[in-house]
Parts: sequence; C-alpha cells; structure tokens
Amino acid sequence: MSDLTALVQRALDELRGCGDEAALRAWHTRYFGKQGEVLAAIKNIGAIPPAERRAYGQEANRIKEALTGAYEAALAREKKRGLERSLAEDAVDVTLPARPVPRGRLHLATQVMRAITAIFADMGFQVYRSREVEDDLTNFELLNMPPHHPARDMWDTFYTTTPGVVLRTHTSPGQIHVMRELCPQPIRVILPGMCYRYEAITTRSEIQFEQVEGLVIGERVTMADLKGTIVAFARRLFGEQRQVRIRSSYFPFTEPSIEVDMDCIVCAGKGCSLCKRSGWLEIMGAGMVHPVVLRNGGYDPARFSGFAFGMGPQRIAMLKYALDDIRQFWANDLRFLRQF
Ligand code: PHE
Repeated sequence: MSDLTALVQRALDELRGCGDEAALRAWHTRYFGKQGEVLAAIKNIGAIPPAERRAYGQEANRIKEALTGAYEAALAREKKRGLERSLAEDAVDVTLPARPVPRGRLHLATQVMRAITAIFADMGFQVYRSREVEDDLTNFELLNMPPHHPARDMWDTFYTTTPGVVLRTHTSPGQIHVMRELCPQPIRVILPGMCYRYEAITTRSEIQFEQVEGLVIGERVTMADLKGTIVAFARRLFGEQRQVRIRSSYFPFTEPSIEVDMDCIVCAGKGCSLCKRSGWLEIMGAGMVHPVVLRNGGYDPARFSGFAFGMGPQRIAMLKYALDDIRQFWANDLRFLRQF
C-alpha cells in the first residue's frame, strides 16, 4: 500500500514537471505503457497477501483513474497553452496597409481610337464594324481596282490559302458593306479596325496597323463638307490653332482624291525635325466617293454623292505624342506602354 502511495506521489510530481506536450506523452508511456509502472503495480496484486488484496486492488484502480484524469487535464492545459502561444507569436497585424493591387491601363492604341471615335460621335457619326478577312472582290475590285490594276501595287497584301480571300489592306472595303446594308438611306459612319499589309517592318511601317475610315453619303454632300469635317476633327484632337492643307492626290475609289496635311504641332509651320523642315504633317487620305463605288454600293451617282477618308491612328498617336517608332505599339514593352 505504501508503494502505491509513493508511486502516485512521484507520478504527480513528474507530471507537474512536464514542460510540453512531448514530455507529457513520454510520462504517459512511462506510467501507462505496456511496461508502465501503473500496470506493473496492478499486476503486482498476485504478490499481496490475500487479506489485503481487495483493498490493494481498489487503491490501485483509484490511483489509475486519478492519474489518468490528471494526465488528461495536463494534456488539455498544455494544448491550450500551445495554441495561445502560437496565436501570440504568429499574430497577423490586420492594421498593416494592404499591398497595392497592380492596375492595368488602356493601351495607347485603344486610348487614341476612343478619342477619335468620341470626336466623330459628336459630329453624328456611328461606328460600323467591318470584317478583317475580306475577299479580293471587296478589298479591290468593287473599290474600282480590277485585277491587274496598277493601283493594287499600293496595297501589297497577305493571301490566305483560300483563293480570293485576303487580309484586308485597308478599311475601305467596309464602305461597300455599309452601303449595301443601308442603301438607300443616307450614311454617316466611321469604320475603325485592324488592317494588314505585306511590307517591310520599319520605324514607320508595320505589317499590322489600325485605320479609321470615314464615310458620308447623302443627296448634297460636297467637298466643303469633307473639308469642314476634317478641320473640325484636327482641331478637336490637336488644338484649336491647327491649320489644314489639302493636296491633290490619287485613289481609285475617290474622285477627286486628296491628301490632307496639318500644320506641324511642334513648330506650327516654321519647320522642324518632326515635319522634316516642311512645316506640314500628313494625317489622312480622302476624297469624294467615286461614282463606280457608289453604284457598287447600290447608290445612284446621279442623285447621291459622298466623301470618304482614311487615317492611321497609330500615325496620329505618333504625331500627338512625338513617337519615333511605330513598332512600339505591338512590342508589348510595358516601359513604353506605361507612359500613356
Ligand atoms: N484606303 C486608303 C489607304 O489605305 C485611304 C483612303 C480612304 C483614301 C478613303 C481615300 C478615301 O491608303
């Protein structure tokens, strides 16, 4: 009996001395494992004189339960302490400012396209989306360029493997689509979109670029309307001071055809490196819609007239921001793109 009393004393003392969960588990093995002292004490009952066995057995069981209870309480306490410790040590400071979320921005080409669209929207133009893959017929022939017409050399193209199907070289074939869709209603649209040309890639030319086409058809549309529209556009985009100059030119689908220049935004006409000392910057090609094209679109040239223009928003952006390399638009260099 006194052995049992000593055992319980020692076990409780050691239990109190356990500093962490591992020590507690080691203690449990020491006392309650297969070779453990509590089991040994219970088995020892055989060596007890029969008269004392009953009391011994009861005491051994009481000790076993008391120690198990003490162990479980100690283990629970230790687990709770461990949790509190880890909460304190690994605490997240929710008052720290959050990491900034990287924000995207609109590509320069998108920004310029939106600016151009907004200006024409104010003048009553709607946006018409035309296809990027065209047939030879619409890209050339219906625009008054029959096969082998020398003017086709102005637009070297990419052919697809389907005969007669090309990547459009300009947005002008969209004129045919709008006219055939809306005829005989009057038309006032811009046609923005990607164009493709098979040519050398340089600082001034790309095989892929955007254009914005304009088309106005009505019963009394004149060259004065074309000029007024272009001047208003140039002044909205580049400033009220801008002067516009018109030069005679040639396109198969307009007659007469013109090329439009704007006085240089850097030197206002005095001559500098941007305008190559000429004082003028070329901004678009334009003209009155050719009677053959009007007819191909379903309009009677005796009753209807119209004007069309075409410009390259990448070129426009290069003038506006004094950029010297058109290849930067699609090079995906964030150092370039983040500047706008
Ligand atoms: N399509 C012509 C080009 O790509 C531009 C243009 C459009 C000229 C409309 C006149 C009228 O060069």
